[in-house]
Amino acid sequence: MRSTIVYFSQTGNTEKVAYALYDRLQAAGYTVTPLLYEDVADFPEALEGIDILGVGFPTFFGYPPKFFERFLRGLKKVNGTYAFVFTTYGGATAGDGLYEAAAALAKKGYRILGGLKIEGSDSYPQGRELAINAGRPDAADLAAAAEFADLVVAARKAGRSLDPERLASPTPFFAAGHGKPHDALVKKLRKGIEGKILFNKEQCLFCETCKKSCPTRSIRTGEKFPEFSWKCIDGLRCYQCVRVCPGKALSVAYPGPVEDYRRFRDLSADSPGEKRRTMVTA
Ligand SMILES: Cc1cc2nc3c(=O)[nH]c(=O)nc-3n(C[C@H](O)[C@H](O)[C@H](O)COP(=O)(O)O)c2cc1C
Ligand code: SF4
Ligand code: SF4
Repeated sequence: MRSTIVYFSQTGNTEKVAYALYDRLQAAGYTVTPLLYEDVADFPEALEGIDILGVGFPTFFGYPPKFFERFLRGLKKVNGTYAFVFTTYGGATAGDGLYEAAAALAKKGYRILGGLKIEGSDSYPQGRELAINAGRPDAADLAAAAEFADLVVAARKAGRSLDPERLASPTPFFAAGHGKPHDALVKKLRKGIEGKILFNKEQCLFCETCKKSCPTRSIRTGEKFPEFSWKCIDGLRCYQCVRVCPGKALSVAYPGPVEDYRRFRDLSADSPGEKRRTMVTA
């Protein structure tokens, strides 16, 4: 039996969970292909003829990154292949992301086995500076991922699947926009915390690491490099370029004191009960 786990991960949290799932599925007798989202176009055969597809992503403003949703919407139709979804989030909220991903897969004919959300170190610039959730996912988180994999395999064996609605967020903030285009909600979430990206030409090493690592291919280098420009496609300011820049030529100017970020997190934060609901399986 073959399974493929497609995942996107900027800072490694989702990747850790992907590998915990990988190990457990392998232990259950599956031959598993872990596949970076960036490499899917080069290995389309990895999605053909499989028994279970897993898809994982970091939560960006309560949803899957837009480019990841586009990828899900572009998948070929299947006839009842099983699938599960997982996300990591910085401990504020996983929002409605599992539902959105599962609903997109269900539209393509996948049968949903379950959804998993695991806390990770916060990769948002202010969150990193404040070391929010540092060290997550930890051993207990990865053990939860392993448990989820076991439940998914059991559900697959029994031929069970679930309605994506069961993965929906009960948090009022997200429930209000459930199933609708979420641009307005995301805008509200970004307001007040989104920093400006600054470029200091003097410190640029001309290495193009920023360009290569940008998930939306938003960075263009000009004739007279480093005269480059970027306009984050999808409006997604993910700050990956800033994080990877070896010359510290890119930096973030926060709109206010870094501590303000804690208040922003509270706006959309999951209740303790919702945080404990780490997995739902068929
Ligand atoms: C642009 C952006 C938006 C984010 N939005 C959220 C969010 O809505 N809720 C949350 O709890 N964490 C949020 N985070 C934190 C990440 O979801 C979290 O750190 C995740 O584990 C990163 O996974 P990765 O290491 O696989 O990239 C955000 C991070 C970024 C960069
Ligand atoms: S913040 Fe940087 S890495 Fe992220 S989308 Fe914008 S240009 Fe690309
Ligand atoms: S990663 Fe930093 S140093 Fe390298 S080209 Fe981009 S801005 Fe310049």
